[in-house]
Amino acid sequence: MCGIVGASSYRDVVDVIISGLKTLEYRGYDSAGIAIQNNSSIDIRKEAGKLSRLEKLLTRSPIAGISGIGHTRWATHGEPVTHNAHPHDSRTEIAVVHNGIIENYQPLKNMLIDKGYVFKSETDSETLAHLIHFYHQEMTFSEACHKAIRELDGAYAVAICSLSEPDKIIASRQGPPLVVGIGKNENFVASDTQALIEHTDQFHYLEEGDIVEITPNSCEIFNGQGEHIERPLKTVNMSADELSKAGYKHYMLKEIHEQPTAVANTLQDRLGDTGVSSEFITAETVELLQRVKQIHIVACGTSYHAGLVARYWLESIARIPTQVEIASEYRYRNPVITDDTLFITISQSGETADSLAALRFAKQAGYLSTLSVCNVENSTLDRESDICLLTRAGPEIGVASTKALTTQMTVMALLTLACAEIKQIDASLRKRLLKQLRTLPGLLNQALALNDKIEHIAQQIVIRDHALFLGRGQHYPIALEGALKLKEISYIHAEGYPAGELKHGPLALVDKEMPVIAVCPNDELLEKLKSNIEEVRARGGELFVFVDHKGDHGLSDAENHLIELEASGEFTSPIVFNVPLQLLAYHVAVLRGTDVDQPRNLAKSVTVE
Ligand code: G6P
Repeated sequence: MCGIVGASSYRDVVDVIISGLKTLEYRGYDSAGIAIQNNSSIDIRKEAGKLSRLEKLLTRSPIAGISGIGHTRWATHGEPVTHNAHPHDSRTEIAVVHNGIIENYQPLKNMLIDKGYVFKSETDSETLAHLIHFYHQEMTFSEACHKAIRELDGAYAVAICSLSEPDKIIASRQGPPLVVGIGKNENFVASDTQALIEHTDQFHYLEEGDIVEITPNSCEIFNGQGEHIERPLKTVNMSADELSKAGYKHYMLKEIHEQPTAVANTLQDRLGDTGVSSEFITAETVELLQRVKQIHIVACGTSYHAGLVARYWLESIARIPTQVEIASEYRYRNPVITDDTLFITISQSGETADSLAALRFAKQAGYLSTLSVCNVENSTLDRESDICLLTRAGPEIGVASTKALTTQMTVMALLTLACAEIKQIDASLRKRLLKQLRTLPGLLNQALALNDKIEHIAQQIVIRDHALFLGRGQHYPIALEGALKLKEISYIHAEGYPAGELKHGPLALVDKEMPVIAVCPNDELLEKLKSNIEEVRARGGELFVFVDHKGDHGLSDAENHLIELEASGEFTSPIVFNVPLQLLAYHVAVLRGTDVDQPRNLAKSVTVE
């Protein structure tokens, strides 16, 4: 969603802000803008569309100055057109960028119109610029910002500048993330650390309700009660290489290919000779897991699918009753929480608004404890959960999540193994599962070798308008994920179904125009799945069957588009089967010519409801 970068320095900050905004492109946006201060004016440039259009505008109509704010906007209130792009100004004396939704903007706007303010956009955000300007008549810039921000209801990360104090940027967050970068004779704010990593590795993470005031040589933070407060200064180790495409055509393709390494990193030091290591599950966590009688997993999007797979493992292997729910549903459902239930949130970014709201609800609701599985260290989810198990996938830039899911499932497999150990469940089963985890990076590499074959079959899918993905058991969530990937990036309508439900509805859709993609592990459900495949064939549907090559699956290439891979094992199979489906979605999208890394209308980090 919207990205924010602000800088206060002794050098010109236009390039700092634009290059920071470029690293935030992954969040998804539809317009961009920048406000730069010098001693006599605040100069604003903004454009609908991609940042390249803003850069062209800046070439035609340059600006320069030592402090400023920039923004990539993902439209909520008002169309994605130039006049709705941020920054919004009030009488060219105050400029504001905003990520989130100001829920009470309408009464504030009415009041300001009565006071003579003229609104130039349909956004809720412009209200804040005028409100600060209004208060600034009677008080300092800082006092006006504090007063106005405290009146906002809703979710916001904001950065503000004022002609009255040209070297100062004031910023605040309530909901969406905001970090403060501390440099040498320059300071910054941004939606994430990636945007500033070229300039500093020292960061303060703002807490809910914090307001920060930066100049080139000062940084003051105030908490929600207006008290001066110190937030820890943390060092972030991230190389610029991690943020590059490294020669790949798209971030998504790079991230798909990074999966063997990402999984190896996720497993590093976490597997011992006979089970999970104490680095992964500390003595304190062991004590907690001994008490767990039930688990609730809550997540959004692809991370929800990781939870669905984990449910099969936690129930069938560790014998712990487990529920999985979409965060936006869970938070409004008033769920019943029985004694000794562990709450688990899974999230790549650790900033998804609904997942965070679910966590905050859970913390008040009487759970035994809260545990998160997250890819971003120091994210809000990491900071607010009792325990956080990091996925170590490295930065994921493509909007469609790939390596994050693979590492989330890996961490959930480790957690399942830990629970099975604590409950002393069948030692030979645990030994087999441990072995499976060790083979995972190698199996993922083998699955990636199918790339050319999948690129070829993508040509059969790209000409269709719909696709159906089928799976059973723990591969049903993999079918859901395959369908989600295809629709996200190729815009082909796709649905994932448990194959056993075929006859209860989706079979009506099957004819020769309907490609049906089946995930077909060589397990106890194989024969049942083969019956479903026959039902599709009998109706003329075109079958694409991803099958485990081990044993006699009895499926022929003559009758199906058959893609064989090595993917047996409770833990390894769903993780490995997911890879060819990612590649399929990717190649179909490339053939369709869509914007693979930033699909239309979607955002990487959904920081508002
Ligand atoms: C967005 C992204 C998805 C992601 C979902 C949940 O919809 O486009 O790729 O799965 O958010 O995000 P999270 O960061 O919580 O995993």
